Amino acid sequence: MQAIVLVGGFGTRLHPLTRNVPKQMLPVVDRPMIEHVVAHLAAHGVTRVVLSLGFRPEAFSDAYPDGICAGIPVHYAVEPEPLDTAGAVRFAALAAGIRPGNESASSAGSADDVSDTFLVLNGDVLTDLNVTAMVAGHRAAGAEATLALTEVDDPSRYGVVPTDAEGRVLGFVEKPDAGSEPSRWINAGTYVLEPSILERIPAGRRVSIEREVFPAMAAEGSLHAVQSDAYWIDAGTPEAYIRAQLDLVDGTRGDLPAAHPSSTVDPSADVQRSIVMAGATVGPGAHLLNSIVMDAATVGAGAMVAHSIVGPGAHVGEGASLTDLTVIGESESVGAGIELIGARVPGDS
Ligand code: GDD
Ligand code: MG
Repeated sequence: MQAIVLVGGFGTRLHPLTRNVPKQMLPVVDRPMIEHVVAHLAAHGVTRVVLSLGFRPEAFSDAYPDGICAGIPVHYAVEPEPLDTAGAVRFAALAAGIRPGNESASSAGSADDVSDTFLVLNGDVLTDLNVTAMVAGHRAAGAEATLALTEVDDPSRYGVVPTDAEGRVLGFVEKPDAGSEPSRWINAGTYVLEPSILERIPAGRRVSIEREVFPAMAAEGSLHAVQSDAYWIDAGTPEAYIRAQLDLVDGTRGDLPAAHPSSTVDPSADVQRSIVMAGATVGPGAHLLNSIVMDAATVGAGAMVAHSIVGPGAHVGEGASLTDLTVIGESESVGAGIELIGARVPGDS
């Protein structure tokens, strides 16, 4: 089976880390986010991934020059301009040889029948969703499109998806006003689709799958969903990007080492629930709590970093204090003794 992974967004909620790097190329503990996503797909029998690219496509092709990511072939579908989520699916599907209706690529006798059920994923979602079972359920129901749903406390940030007892989607409301959500079950960003869905996506303009295609299908009664309680996180905000990584080292989802072997943490530093990446240095008496110190960053003596991210090669001066989801961009410097609360350095101008 083929999977299209959407990785073309600008990742603005993770600025400044994503000023020059797509969020799916940011490291999640030990490897880029996209490798976690693709490895999960490979474990469920996906044999080919099409990366749907827009912003900084070369970040992916440079990282996987032989076209292999997490052990399976990846192909690149680069949009000439952002087409939004459904436009991106259409563009990537056609690039991958997926054809709607009977125009099967195999009708000419090709042995490579790619006009089959396919997967679409939001590339910033880290999950242990049972994709194999989801595909089986989709086929058993004879559905045209099946979405995975996950239950969250704060549905207003997501696509909210009420269903009936049989899994028929009753409505699809993208980012409703807080308090008005019809359900706590939200679109988990994994779709099983039949090629006929491509006929529902107009060509030549931006089309949102969440605001246009799925609401229309829900109104028709032709959209299905399956609820899942598997591990799930959308790592697209600083808070979630930190949590997704801590979950992989604290036993919630994995037991990876929290400090890279090539990092240097002074024995007098106090490191709690934090990740220290390759080549990073944490000085004497520094305090880290619920934070990420990225590759080759340095945290000076006595500095405090709590619920915050120090970007690659960035420097936090002696005695500085970073708290409350402060994010320091690549190679930036925070002066000694400076106090930052919920800051982005540099900020968006
Ligand atoms: N190729 C391409 N082109 N990719 C895009 C584009 C585009 O124009 N716009 C966004 N993407 C990619 C992003 O890179 C990301 O991987 C994915 O599409 C989803 O975009 P986000 O910007 O992360 O959306 P979101 O998190 O606000 O909401 C989406 O995900 C939620 C679950 O995590 C929606 O699908 C919600 O309905 C859903 O609940
Ligand atoms: Mg997202």
